[in-house]
Amino acid sequence: MSPVSTGTLDLQHRRCPEPGDDLSDYSVLPVPPMSIRFDQAAGTLSPAGPELTRRMSDLEGLFLDQNAWRTAVADGDPIVYSVVSSLVPEADRELPQSITTIQPGSTGGEFWMTKGHQHPNHQGEIYLGISGRGGLLMFDGTDTRWVDMTPGTIGYIPPGWAHRSVNVGGKPYSFLAVYPGGAGHDYGWVLEYGLGQRVWRQDDGVAFGGYFAEASS
Ligand code: F6R
Ligand code: ZN
Repeated sequence: MSPVSTGTLDLQHRRCPEPGDDLSDYSVLPVPPMSIRFDQAAGTLSPAGPELTRRMSDLEGLFLDQNAWRTAVADGDPIVYSVVSSLVPEADRELPQSITTIQPGSTGGEFWMTKGHQHPNHQGEIYLGISGRGGLLMFDGTDTRWVDMTPGTIGYIPPGWAHRSVNVGGKPYSFLAVYPGGAGHDYGWVLEYGLGQRVWRQDDGVAFGGYFAEASS
């Protein structure tokens, strides 16, 4: 058997990522076996795929207190979270990975969070906590589940459960996501059906309340 090369692979990276691009544009299939390096201090993956930045203005309709959301947009439109991905594309049978970092903060008392989505092609996904303190909120349309996420925790998202991540600490919360490349992402589902619960800052802790207007606890 010939030795396995651990040197730099020709990843056939076609071009630089641009906002709004589809993740499947970044690699030519089939992707070769590769090693992907994660620099925790820099929050980067190498070789790098697309990067996404979500500002407050990208989170329209997601915080319960819309006035507080508008004020936050007008008041500097801060970055709420960013997502860096490896070169593994969102293509059927591939297994893409990404690192999400959510900044600490709250708007109208609601902790900063990701948009949240459902995978239209129902498939499972795992998250691994890397740094900070967060949570994984899951909703299947009826039941809601919450998994506390600290460094080293693996959160499992079963097929058919919409999911959102929340930073409940005072520092950035980062986690690794690994998911089936053919699962797709449906953000409209969450706008329509919600995520079962909202996650509120309460004194030094966390409180949960119902999702829609009657909700705050
Ligand atoms: C992929 C996945 C994560 C999220 C990321 C950003 O299936 O669950 O990589 O995509 O945490 O959250 P959203 O996509 O909800 O903006
Ligand atoms: Zn997902």
